[in-house]
Amino acid sequence: MDTIDEVKQRIDIVEAIASYVPDLKKAGRNFKAICPFHQEKTPSFYVFPERQSWHCFGACSTGGDVFSFVMKKEGIGFGEALRILAEKAGISLTFRRTEDGETETEKLKKTNETAAEYYHHLLLQSPSGQQARAYLAQRGVSDKTLSQFQLGCSPDSWDSLRQEMLKIGYRESELIAAGLVIEKERGGGTYDRFRNRLMFPIRDMTGRVLGFGARALDESLPKYLNSPQTLVFDKSNVLYGIDHAKSTIRKQNLAVIVEGYMDVIVAHQYNFSNVVASLGTALTEKQVSMIKKLTKSLALALDADAAGEMATLRGIEVASHTFDQKVVPFPTSAGLVKYEDVLDAEISVMVLPAGKDPDDIIKENPKEWERLLAEASPVIDYTFDFVVSKLDLAKMKDKSSAVDRLLPLIAEIKHPVRQAHYLQKLARAVGLDEKSLASAIKQLRLQPTGSRREGDMARSSRLVPSLSPCDPLAEYCLSLLICYPQLRSHALGLSADFFTTRSENREVFLAWQHSGDLESMRQVLDVTLEEHLDAILAKPLPPLRAQEPEHALRECIDRLRERWLRDMKTKEKILISEAETEGSTADLEEIQQSAIKLNTELGEVFLHAKQRKGQRAS
Ligand code: UTP
Ligand code: MN
Repeated sequence: MDTIDEVKQRIDIVEAIASYVPDLKKAGRNFKAICPFHQEKTPSFYVFPERQSWHCFGACSTGGDVFSFVMKKEGIGFGEALRILAEKAGISLTFRRTEDGETETEKLKKTNETAAEYYHHLLLQSPSGQQARAYLAQRGVSDKTLSQFQLGCSPDSWDSLRQEMLKIGYRESELIAAGLVIEKERGGGTYDRFRNRLMFPIRDMTGRVLGFGARALDESLPKYLNSPQTLVFDKSNVLYGIDHAKSTIRKQNLAVIVEGYMDVIVAHQYNFSNVVASLGTALTEKQVSMIKKLTKSLALALDADAAGEMATLRGIEVASHTFDQKVVPFPTSAGLVKYEDVLDAEISVMVLPAGKDPDDIIKENPKEWERLLAEASPVIDYTFDFVVSKLDLAKMKDKSSAVDRLLPLIAEIKHPVRQAHYLQKLARAVGLDEKSLASAIKQLRLQPTGSRREGDMARSSRLVPSLSPCDPLAEYCLSLLICYPQLRSHALGLSADFFTTRSENREVFLAWQHSGDLESMRQVLDVTLEEHLDAILAKPLPPLRAQEPEHALRECIDRLRERWLRDMKTKEKILISEAETEGSTADLEEIQQSAIKLNTELGEVFLHAKQRKGQRAS
């Protein structure tokens, strides 16, 4: 088994996709969601755990395995997707070293650093940087701050960075791997990912550049575009500003976490240099443990609406729909209490006036920021007071709803003395006996908790033996195509869709489509796929004479098409039975229409095959 297969075996497609598509919901034996690749109102995106595949039945009308999903979602090539998934699966890849002997992560950081210098230079010097300079000035960012954070701007051009980097000697593959350029869907080549944006280099603790945040200079969307996930950049694992904040955090023994890049920059400009940002994602365990190396106390600066929501929600982690959309940047109170416990940290909540960013508050009046910070209260106390303030504890109904909301939170506290303290506080507030609350907690413990959803996900497909990673039919077909160049003109009816069962084969097919011979195929194919290509070529073909390769290919194509149609049919059957149970007649009609179309096509394939057999017999 090669590395690619190993990664496939260890990664569960449902879990992997759910990390990008948080609203993925169970539907019978499968999962569905609003398609992450196109705009729609009703879900037509499905994940099939038993087949370890996904499919969008809506506008995309395409699908594949976990690799093709990550490639499409992140806008990256096969090699990058493999690296990301291998990382997730805890498998180290053997293709790590680059040609000049540097480790791949080192190369990626250097690439990002060169790009950061280029963007910074443009902001300071170029006429095209004028607009960005004016924007920063209007937002009150000083020249000193701008240099400290090495802010930059990307020009309004499709290939300015690309050209510059290639000129200096970077390879296109390195730019792709760093997420700085995007591969064109058609015709090959790449273009700059960041165009006409204010650039924020995102650094690790030691100041190395891992990726970028990029703000639109006008009202265009998305407001912020971030680097895609790469070998070195993972949104859940970075804190913006940590390189500049770490010494102050240590000194003051406190870290303040805000939402936005601009908030960090302005805070530092006003000497509040213990401020870092969580990049608009819910604070993750990884981020908390990063801070924990510096201090055990952290304050979350949340706007009043967000803080209130945090206190009311339970068990549902608020997360983004798509990777780059703005999200509510906090886990729930219960989530935070769990972090406190796991990480032995103290988390407090700093409530900002609704609708105001730290950036606005600090610029208006720095003293106000100090006051708000001084008033921050421990997450559990904040939640307590918030819940109680919304209720009338003289009423029975409100008493029980206070218990419903707060008891699960208290149950998350593992430290016995702390737990007893809050149990007593709740008992007093609602006028109930502590003992009965304590036994209610034991009851809660026996029930599955908020993590049920994750449990569901994990269980979904692990029970089912994963699909055999081989696809002999597709591989035989590829082998024919590569070994018999004269077949090219007969392969026009072949669609990349027939190879989606295994992204590796799809990649080999696309490489074959775009190149003349084996040598140039190797050139375009990602290094991680060389082994797979060799494996295909290593399987000997039976000796074929004269017209035989052509017949073999035709048969192969028919069988691939038939298989693809059958596969679509099976998936549609699943949809039909689901639409029936849900009673949605509109959906049902639509699916049945397309089922009829599939049947017709399948009929044509059989007819075709029969005719050909007839021809050969005569
Ligand atoms: P904000 O919209 O509050 O941005 O999003 P901001 O940093 O305060 O920017 P200004 O003040 O409008 O210029 C907070 C954070 O959420 C992430 C970014 O990390 C941003 O700093 N975000 C926001 C995204 O990743 N994508 C988006 O489209 C929007
Ligand atoms: Mn802002």
